[in-house]
Amino acid sequence: MIPFNKPFLTGKETTYIKEAVESGKISGDGIFTKRCHAFFEEKYGFKKVLLTTSCTDALEMAAILINTQPGDEIIAPSYTFVSTVNAFVLRGAKIVFADSGKDSPNIDVNSIEALITPRTKAIVPVHYAGIACDMDVIMDIAHRHNLYVIEDAAQSIDAYYKGRPLGSIGHMSAFSFHETKNIIAGEGGMLVINDPAFIQRAEIIREKGTNRSAFSEEKSTNMVGSILALPFFRQKLSLPFCMHN
Ligand SMILES: Cc1ncc(COP(=O)(O)O)c(C=O)c1O
Repeated sequence: MIPFNKPFLTGKETTYIKEAVESGKISGDGIFTKRCHAFFEEKYGFKKVLLTTSCTDALEMAAILINTQPGDEIIAPSYTFVSTVNAFVLRGAKIVFADSGKDSPNIDVNSIEALITPRTKAIVPVHYAGIACDMDVIMDIAHRHNLYVIEDAAQSIDAYYKGRPLGSIGHMSAFSFHETKNIIAGEGGMLVINDPAFIQRAEIIREKGTNRSAFSEEKSTNMVGSILALPFFRQKLSLPFCMHN
């Protein structure tokens, strides 16, 4: 039997888990989350990093952030993992599949423009196995047609396009730390936001429609106010009532 993958362990995992448990804070955004955010922002120059529980969650956040609506069209490659498109299908979008190029399973950038209609909202290129899509061509098309670009960079940590880290080029990108990927956390993911216009809303969406993290940092006692404001936030942000994060 040839296993599909073998998780790589450094030997320090249980030490860090013990440290996290002993820190007394075991929900998200503790010391390790903060270290990861800083590491990825500094090493790859990502504008804003938010760890998520999976790449699937990061893609769902991106779909919500661009306000995906029934009838929107999303251009995606035919060859990918289901999560790439599920995030948009769940919000009623129609997926317009582009064919693969001749040299790799990646999207054939020359086929994209013919697929654009007035309903097209975004292009979601996938850098399959860390092989870069031709991002210059994709970004040029997106700018000319006023479209969002969300890179599915699930398999692309530390991979580059013309010297630029994959995931740093589109408006947003999604990475995976699933056990089958290059850097692993069992399950895990990361939303990268390169367009600062999305940052504030992304933080609230990640906190299930609250600004809880800002409150705890400021040690605010105004919890009643935040609870009362919840329905307002949900409506404003077009949040689903149940989001797994
Ligand atoms: C291209 C692609 N996108 C998204 C995902 C989803 O990643 P996750 O398992 O972290 O949700 C995968 C996982 O294999 C993937 O290969």
